[in-house]
This record gives sequence, structure tokens and C-alpha cells, in this order.
Amino acid sequence: LATSEFLTHLPKCEHHVHLEGTLEPSLLFQLAHRNNIQLPDDFPKSVEALQYRYQNFKDLQDFLNLYYVGMSVLITEQDFEDLAWAYLEKSSKQGLKHVEAFFDPQGHVDRGIDLELVIGGFRKALVRAEKELGMSTKLIMCLLRHLPPSEGLATIKSFAPYYKKGWIHGMGLDSSEVEFPPELFTSCYQYARSSLPKEVHYTAHAGEEAGSDYVRRSLKCLGISRIDHGVHSADDPELMKQLAERDIMLTVCPLSNKRLQVVDDVSQVPIRKFLEYGVPFSINSDDPAYFGGYILDNYLAVQEAFKLNVDEWIKIAKNSVRGSWVSEKRKKDLY
Ligand code: ADE
Ligand code: ZN
Repeated sequence: LATSEFLTHLPKCEHHVHLEGTLEPSLLFQLAHRNNIQLPDDFPKSVEALQYRYQNFKDLQDFLNLYYVGMSVLITEQDFEDLAWAYLEKSSKQGLKHVEAFFDPQGHVDRGIDLELVIGGFRKALVRAEKELGMSTKLIMCLLRHLPPSEGLATIKSFAPYYKKGWIHGMGLDSSEVEFPPELFTSCYQYARSSLPKEVHYTAHAGEEAGSDYVRRSLKCLGISRIDHGVHSADDPELMKQLAERDIMLTVCPLSNKRLQVVDDVSQVPIRKFLEYGVPFSINSDDPAYFGGYILDNYLAVQEAFKLNVDEWIKIAKNSVRGSWVSEKRKKDLY
């Protein structure tokens, strides 16, 4: 059996995908036209030019600048539904069985879009995927760390009804990392943990561009049970032991790390070290439309770089199920 075939059929879980990061250039231009949105003068003018631009990100900020412009074409509930559905349908064909998807509410509400319609559109697509594609799905709202924590707090308050209804399952933290350390958001997480239903899970981006100390400090001050990216944890053996002991899963995004120049090559993502230390991790696409690959493409890139054997892959797949925020019954189905 060819490895690519084995990896295609391996049941996969995705824990790190930004729904706004699944906006393919073709859909971006289509929605800009549909909604009469004027893109900035210096924005690439064609699908090909935009795809070319996506191959040349200098760093995280360079990507984020384009990502926030991209979002500006999303206006109606239908837009949000179309966006998420395209991602789900495509990923299902790549063997995706469970997804915990991020979105950035502040990126929409701050430009006058009604929160109800953002959540409504995403939810329609996710419910459809459960029915038609046999997937399980969760929705995680992220706070933007380049915005003031006071605005993060207001965002959490506006989400309380949706958490209560069980429409939103987790809270995360994303956007520009280095200048906005985790401690800024201690009170946001504290407030969320004390006021939202106890079933809600907490995670945060850490150790993507910043060093292992941001991972350590995020664990200390945010009360989170998972780390998004966390690749720089590998520089700190004590932290690695702690991650293994506390069973903190890292949601690793190999093609993202390469495109944003966190590593020169996928072979520099510390996959072997994570395996050696017993640090649980999953493999994810982050912003697949921007980074040149969906879930399976990320699995294949890891395989090309590391030539893992079947036992190692089964271990990775099992850890990825175990670290999912689903019932024990659903986990049994996914194993
Ligand atoms: N928002 C979308 N993708 C992101 C990433 N890789 N890091 C931080 N914020 C993000
Ligand atoms: Zn991310």
C-alpha cells in the first residue's frame, strides 16, 4: 500500500484551521464582485497574481495584512456559509472526520458585520457537514491579540448566549504574537473561565514566531489545555517534559510554518523530538488557502520530510483523536 493512499484513508482530525484562512483566491474575487467590494489599489488583481503573492510571505505579519483584507469580502450569512462549506467538502475528500474550527469575530464585527450572521453562516455549513459528510464539528472563537484586552472582554460577553446554546465550544487567541505577550489576556481568560459554561475548552496560539517562553507563560497565565503551533517548545527540554506529563497537545501546522518562514523547510519542524519526548501533537492546515495545502497535504509534507513508519502514523492519528474536544463515544468511532 502506497503511503499516500494510507494517509488519505487514515481518519484525520483538524484542530487548527481559521475559517477565514480557507478563503481561496477564486472565491475571494467572486465575493468581492457579488458584494461590490473595492479591494485596495495595491491588492493583486487576478487569481494567479494573488496565488503568486501567497508564495512569498516574509513573516506572520506580512500574511496577516493580506488575511485581514481578504476577510473584507465576507458580508452576508451566505458568504460565511459558502466559505466554510467549500473547506469542509474539500477536506472531507482528504479524509477529514472531525474539525475544530477557529474564526475571528472581531475581524467582522469591527467592520460592521452582525455577529449573528457570522455564527449563523458558519453553523449552517458545519451542521450540513455533520449530516451529509458524517463529520463531527466544533467552533472556536478567537480573540485578536493585537486589539486591546478590554475589547476582548467585550467580545467574550457578546458570546455568552452562543456558548450557553452550545454553538461555540472553545476560546482561542491569535494574530500578531511577539509584540502581544500572553499576560495581556490573563484577565480575559479568567473572566471567560469564571462566567462561561464549564464544558468550554481553552487554547491559545503560542511559540509560533515567539520563543518557548511564550508557550510556558501561556500555560501559566491563561489556564489553557492546548497550545496552537508551539513548535518553539522544542528548544526547552523542561517544557517538553511538562507538555508530555500534562498531556498538552500542540496543534502543529507544517506548511504554515514553512510559508511564514518560521522554518526554512518542513524537515525543521521538530516532529521527531515531539515523538521522542512523548509530546502529543496533531497536524493541521492553519490557513489552507494561503499556505498551499489542506489537511492531507500537510500529512504528506510531513511524510516526505520524515519518512515515518505506519506505527508512528497510527500513534499520531490516535493522539489527534485523544486530544479532540469530543465525547468518549465519538472518540471510539474516530479511532
Ligand atoms: N490568524 C490566522 N492564522 C494565524 C496564524 N498562523 N498565527 C496567528 N494568527 C493567525
Ligand atoms: Zn493559526
